[in-house]
Amino acid sequence: MSQARFACLQCTRTYDWLELRYACDCGGLLEVKHNDPALRQLPDKAELRLTSRKPYDRSGVWRFREGVLPLPESMIVTQNEGQTTIYESAALNQWAGHSNLTLKHEGENPTGSFKDRGMTAAVSMAKRLGMPVVACASTGNTSSSLAAYAARAGLKAIVFLPAGKVSQGKMAQTLGYGAKGMAIRGDFDDAMQIVRDLANAGRVYMVNSLNPHRIEGQKTIIWEMLQDRNWHAPDWIVVPGGNLGNTSAFGKAIDEAYEWGWITKKPRLATIQAEGANPFFRSYTKDFSSLEALTAETIATAIRIGYPVNFPRAVRSIINTNGVVTDVTDTEIMAAKTAIDHAGIGCEPASAATLAGVRKLVKKNIIGPEEDVVLVLTGHMLKDPDAILKVQTLDCTEVDANVDAITKALDRV
Ligand code: F0G
Repeated sequence: MSQARFACLQCTRTYDWLELRYACDCGGLLEVKHNDPALRQLPDKAELRLTSRKPYDRSGVWRFREGVLPLPESMIVTQNEGQTTIYESAALNQWAGHSNLTLKHEGENPTGSFKDRGMTAAVSMAKRLGMPVVACASTGNTSSSLAAYAARAGLKAIVFLPAGKVSQGKMAQTLGYGAKGMAIRGDFDDAMQIVRDLANAGRVYMVNSLNPHRIEGQKTIIWEMLQDRNWHAPDWIVVPGGNLGNTSAFGKAIDEAYEWGWITKKPRLATIQAEGANPFFRSYTKDFSSLEALTAETIATAIRIGYPVNFPRAVRSIINTNGVVTDVTDTEIMAAKTAIDHAGIGCEPASAATLAGVRKLVKKNIIGPEEDVVLVLTGHMLKDPDAILKVQTLDCTEVDANVDAITKALDRV
């Protein structure tokens, strides 16, 4: 029997996990606490479910459902999320000065980013709670994911985006799936505040990662990776940090996997931010004594966030995993992105912060050159085609359509 409860991160209050609420009465963030002793055997169940033909069983999220959200099948809005590849690349090892990197590509999810794992959980909850209007603030991936899942569930989606700061690919995808978009004259952090206010006033159901159900879905990035490695934990897991939903979810996934006996050692987390959007890194350098909001700017628009709302959860993740936080410049991000693209793997700029961060942490002797490291690539290469064309324009030569001209041109490339 499931004994899941909402628990406050700040005080001792708990609530029914099916209650419509985003925060504790004391204002603290909430998390889902699972207390089912049968969770120790969940890896065996998850393995068996892989042999099923049902999307509900095979999904990289719902094959772990008892440890995510114990919802009945009829409530689940799933599109076969997860089941993403873990890549190896000799070229990328060399680029980072390392010998043992692997990359789990969450851009292979149905809408092209890791957000689908949290969104299948949040939209299923919206359905369970009978909320007809779902909303989020977004730098473009959450909104794309929400738009798709809301359409599948027959719910109305409203998205709040920072005007002029969302990539064309994500904008097109969000509107294409039928969401109603509002371009806010402000940044992501302003949009986030608006959604919080609307949700607190009961106007919409908020599916940003403040919503604890989103975090539960995103934990499965780690669980699926561990399952694919036969529950052999790596030394490090490296993730980009924006609003810090993933950092929060990864820490919780690791803590639970360890507590429930699925793994015998905890991997260390490394969260990488863009230098122009690095409030978490700044706080880390001051032992997390405070979080100072900043006006964010970076080419990696997905993580252009100056005040991450998941801060308290993310701090706990870094502390509990003996993790680290660092930042990298836009130039380093784009160099790493080119390396990942040229390795035939491809990703969007924010995802490439991971590889740039690993190179930096290896140089600083924080990550050992032979340690077992998994990088999480968060978004698909086609999410941000403009970012590619900004750096690759010279590689496409325009020529006359005749063999002589082309032969000459071929000698030059
Ligand atoms: N990578 C990508 C591709 C993202 O879209 C995001 C966040 C992150 C990393 C950062 O993840 O917030 O969990 O630390 N995108 C959000 C959005 C903000 O609206 O799509 P985080």
